[in-house]
Amino acid sequence: MSGVLGDLKGKTAVITGGASGIGLAMAERFGAAGMNVVIADIEDAALSAANDALLAGGVDSRAMRCDVSDLGSVAALADFAYEEFGNVHVLCNNAGVVHRDRVWEASIESWEWVIGVDLWGPIYGVKTFVPRMIASGEPGHVINTASTAGILTFPGICSYNVAKQGVVALSEVLLADARDAGVPILASVLCPGVVRTKIGTSERNRPSNVQGAAFGTQGLTTATEAIDPEEVADQVLAAVHEGRFWIMTHPRYVGLVRERATTMETGAAPPVPSPI
Ligand SMILES: NC(=O)c1ccc[n+]([C@@H]2O[C@H](COP(=O)([O-])OP(=O)(O)OC[C@H]3O[C@@H](n4cnc5c(N)ncnc54)[C@H](O)[C@@H]3O)[C@@H](O)[C@H]2O)c1
Repeated sequence: MSGVLGDLKGKTAVITGGASGIGLAMAERFGAAGMNVVIADIEDAALSAANDALLAGGVDSRAMRCDVSDLGSVAALADFAYEEFGNVHVLCNNAGVVHRDRVWEASIESWEWVIGVDLWGPIYGVKTFVPRMIASGEPGHVINTASTAGILTFPGICSYNVAKQGVVALSEVLLADARDAGVPILASVLCPGVVRTKIGTSERNRPSNVQGAAFGTQGLTTATEAIDPEEVADQVLAAVHEGRFWIMTHPRYVGLVRERATTMETGAAPPVPSPI
């Protein structure tokens, strides 16, 4: 396997959810590799602080407020990135939220919020950026942030499971269609396990019509296997260089996926990972 981009210096990366956690770490890594960076996020204060920090670190960075669950907002982000840097080579559809509720209790508003950000966000990203990436004639690489919840089903986070499994499918079909069409676009899907970020306080961004308890940071802070976002970003950068599709930060989950495949032969229920 090898990537399509070669030397990243002077190329441009756009990262949604770039004001925090995994998105910000990816922006730092791509910036350190000499890329121009556009970070997009719904949180104004965190976004401008992140952009200031990137600029102070010598990264040629721009920031734009964007709600990834809104097609017009994502299209405006694409216009902004192309105006600022002339081209986009790496797109990270990374913004995400999680909400805790049982599948029979989740409100329609809760489903709409999580699916809107976590699944429509990446769909809008592909829809608005990829045709322009192809039209540029230059190679491009799309990295979609899914989760281990994209390959296994956890209890208590129904909308997140459904959205992230859609993100895995979106990534696979992007790669398959690009190969079929013979265009130089690669796709990767990032499936992190537990990462020390602010995802546990996703409710800070939820619409007022979505009720319920906070997801909680307990699992994120106490999990012994929790890793830092910088470690995830290192793996993403390596995947871009190598042209790797799957980015599995916690390989133990792959064993559960193998078990899951076995249940398709036996008809047994799929394995259920411990709740986060
Ligand atoms: N942290 C983990 O353990 C973990 C595990 C698996 C997958 N992920 C995924 O990683 C991605 C990044 O999350 P993180 O862990 O860094 O959490 P985070 O909360 O630190 O970062 C997520 C960012 O997305 C932004 N965001 C939320 N709604 C948005 C919207 N509508 N439009 C634009 N931006 C929006 C937030 O403001 C925030 O800056 C998410 O897709 C998440 O589902 C995280």
